[in-house]
Amino acid sequence: MIRNLTGGVLYHYLALKHRNHLWNPFKSSLSRFINGLSTDSNKLVLIGPSGGYCLPQKFITKLNKIEAFDPDLLAKIIFNSRHSPINIKWHSRDCLVNDQSSNFQILNQFKPSHIILLSNIYGQMRCLFKSERLYNSWKVNFLNLIKGFEFISYHDIYSFKSTFKLNSTLNKTYNSFDLLKNDLVLYSKTQKIEFVDHLTHDDFDFVKKKVYFLWELHPNNYHIIEAVYYNGRRPQ
Ligand SMILES: C[S@@+](CC[C@H](N)C(=O)[O-])C[C@H]1O[C@@H](n2cnc3c(N)ncnc32)[C@H](O)[C@@H]1O
Repeated sequence: MIRNLTGGVLYHYLALKHRNHLWNPFKSSLSRFINGLSTDSNKLVLIGPSGGYCLPQKFITKLNKIEAFDPDLLAKIIFNSRHSPINIKWHSRDCLVNDQSSNFQILNQFKPSHIILLSNIYGQMRCLFKSERLYNSWKVNFLNLIKGFEFISYHDIYSFKSTFKLNSTLNKTYNSFDLLKNDLVLYSKTQKIEFVDHLTHDDFDFVKKKVYFLWELHPNNYHIIEAVYYNGRRPQ
């Protein structure tokens, strides 16, 4: 996983450097969202947790069982040292994609007892595919599967670099991407923002509960995060 664009050593380095300061507004917004959810599930399938730098401790400790999937060996060591004691099982099989094909059917073994948390991995899935065609076809099938689960995801929808310091009033939670974008345009004044599209922005249209916030991943490098919660096929 050292060379995987979705994480690896660079991510651990950034976490060590920024998790207790620069990442605080993002972590607060995420905690408010996750801790505010009304879910009864106490069994979790956790996908892409890395060292668990951003997940709210309160949420983690109230779970009876965690099934964790992250191919990064360092993730397991760091996560366990930060969040013990918890009942966690680490899986070596990839539950998302294997050799460019879908591999997520293995998640079905956790239905309906577990809630799934896609922990900042969905917005980087394009990196795992050789072509946009393969990625798009994976996505259609994956979204179809995930609709059968109760799930939470927080993921990138856009990222951008800013040559100026953004106003800290932007460190809040928005109910729509358009409201966040309006504020961004307002506070960036005349400077044009070039957005990198993570190809996820319409994917969770079927979900009612979602919020948007900014994450300054490293200085002047921002990610627009969408956090969503879906309670399975029950009416929301
Ligand atoms: C950006 S990091 C997310 C970190 C963490 N969830 C957080 O919020 O701090 C993405 C994580 O996804 C993991 N990852 C990459 N491919 C994966 C896969 N196929 N299945 C599960 N996790 C994967 C990476 O190893 C990395 O730890």
